[in-house]
Amino acid sequence: MVAGLQIDNLSVRYAARSETTPALRHLSLTLPPGSSVGICGDSGSGKTTLARSIPRLLPASASTSGSIRFDGSDLLQYSSEQLRSIRGCALATFRRNRPLP
Ligand SMILES: Nc1ncnc2c1ncn2[C@@H]1O[C@H](COP(=O)(O)OP(=O)(O)OP(=O)(O)O)[C@@H](O)[C@H]1O
Ligand SMILES: [Mg+2]
Repeated sequence: MVAGLQIDNLSVRYAARSETTPALRHLSLTLPPGSSVGICGDSGSGKTTLARSIPRLLPASASTSGSIRFDGSDLLQYSSEQLRSIRGCALATFRRNRPLP
C-alpha cells in the first residue's frame, strides 16, 4: 500500500448539451503524507477541477476516469457515505487519524 495521495491517469470531462469538454487529461501525481504541492496554470487549465475531484465534489455533469488513491484506497470507488466520513477530517487534514471505512 502507498501511504498518502496517489493520483493515476486522472481525466475529467464536463457534459454540456450535445458535447463534452475535457478539463483534465491523464494527470498523475503522488503526495506522501505530510507533504504539499502547489498547482499553477492558466485560467481554465483545470486547477479547480483537480482540487474538487479529490474529495469527489465535482458537479453531476462531470465524468471522471483514472484512480485517486488515499492511503491505498481508491476514492473513485467510495460510496457517498464512505466519502462523507473522510472528507472533513482525514482527507482535509491529509492525515490518517482513524481507520478508513
Ligand atoms: N461546471 C462546469 N461545466 C462545464 N465546464 C466546466 C465546468 N467547470 C469547469 N469547466 C471547464 O473545465 C475547464 C477547467 O476549468 P477549471 O475551473 O478547473 O480551471 P481553473 O484552472 O480552476 O481556472 P481559473 O484559474 O479560472 O479558476 C475549463 O475549460 C472550464 O471551462
Ligand atoms: Mg479555479
